[in-house]
Amino acid sequence: MKKLILVTGGTGYIGSHTVVELIENGYDVVIIDNLYNSEAEVVDRIAKITGTTPPLEVFDLCDAARLESFFRKYQNIDGIIHFAAYKAVGESVHKPLEYYRNNLVSLMNLLDSMKKTGIPAFVFSSSCTVYGQPEKLPVSEDSPIQPAVSPYGNTKQIGEEIIRDTISSDPNIRAIALRYFNPIGAHPSGLIGELPRGVPENLVPYITQTAYGLRDELKVFGNDYNTPDGSCIRDYLHVVDLAKAHVIAIERLIGNKNKSGFEIFNLGTGNGVSVLEAIKSFERATGVKVKYRITSRRAGDIEKIWADPSLANRELGWKTVSSLDEAMRTAWEWEKFIRKPHGNEN
Ligand code: UFG
Repeated sequence: MKKLILVTGGTGYIGSHTVVELIENGYDVVIIDNLYNSEAEVVDRIAKITGTTPPLEVFDLCDAARLESFFRKYQNIDGIIHFAAYKAVGESVHKPLEYYRNNLVSLMNLLDSMKKTGIPAFVFSSSCTVYGQPEKLPVSEDSPIQPAVSPYGNTKQIGEEIIRDTISSDPNIRAIALRYFNPIGAHPSGLIGELPRGVPENLVPYITQTAYGLRDELKVFGNDYNTPDGSCIRDYLHVVDLAKAHVIAIERLIGNKNKSGFEIFNLGTGNGVSVLEAIKSFERATGVKVKYRITSRRAGDIEKIWADPSLANRELGWKTVSSLDEAMRTAWEWEKFIRKPHGNEN
């Protein structure tokens, strides 16, 4: 029998790519999403790619009573992949209580349901933001956690602790936290991708929107960092590579192959890329020039971080396969797709 996976936030950016990978790997999927930052139409696009329409239940995970009735309806769930969360670093500074309430209450409600229903497997979206500016690069999972610079980052740190304590108290629940570096790009079909509302905060959507003419110019936040070209360094990985890691993680938990109740893995390429190199990669991959200007630093930015992904390589048998240029090319295809009027998609 097919295993059934609950994907919260399954119409979002990383969630939708993971739903596709799960279906293509023989899983049944049910999605919970409140559509706060995504569109129900994503489910139709997932159906176009996979030939399967996963059921979408639209509600807020902070509503514990509604979540209980969901689990009465779906009694055969084998595992949960939890993406649903607020994720804008800057916004979280202005709306800390909204971030703590949304990200942590939803997590606790889900863990509570797992205890009540006996669902044993939980995969959590975490972030390399927990490392702050690491002293040693590349950064491995045992590097110290630094005080969070934003409420958003703190919800990821506290979230990991809540999971760790819950698992210590309940031997029936096992979990994996995946610490993402910088996911970019879109599905090769061009049908799903990142859909930022308003002005993008992240680099790649800003690049693609500038290339498309929606923004006048890209601001490069600082060229006076202690890096070879002076701009900040990140580890950009293709979202499809990232999505595949979730399939491996849930398989590992369901198959009881994890070594301890709670495991943590870095997901990145292992390569550091500067902002200026990222722009060059986009231009090379697409043949489209990006107008940019160097401006002052952005408050709260980390100077440089990239992953040591060797634990995930070894234990999960996972590594990134897509190049930076390929990720940029798919991001561009997606930007062009969403700007076209769709009308009747069928
Ligand atoms: N950048 C620009 N101009 C822009 C946008 C970004 O120069 O318009 C630069 C940033 O200064 C940074 C790099 O591009 O050096 C990447 O910035 P992003 O905002 O795309 O990504 P961050 O690494 O700052 O943040 C990401 C996620 C967060 C997560 C963090 C973990 O968006 O959710 O990684 O380090 F917390």
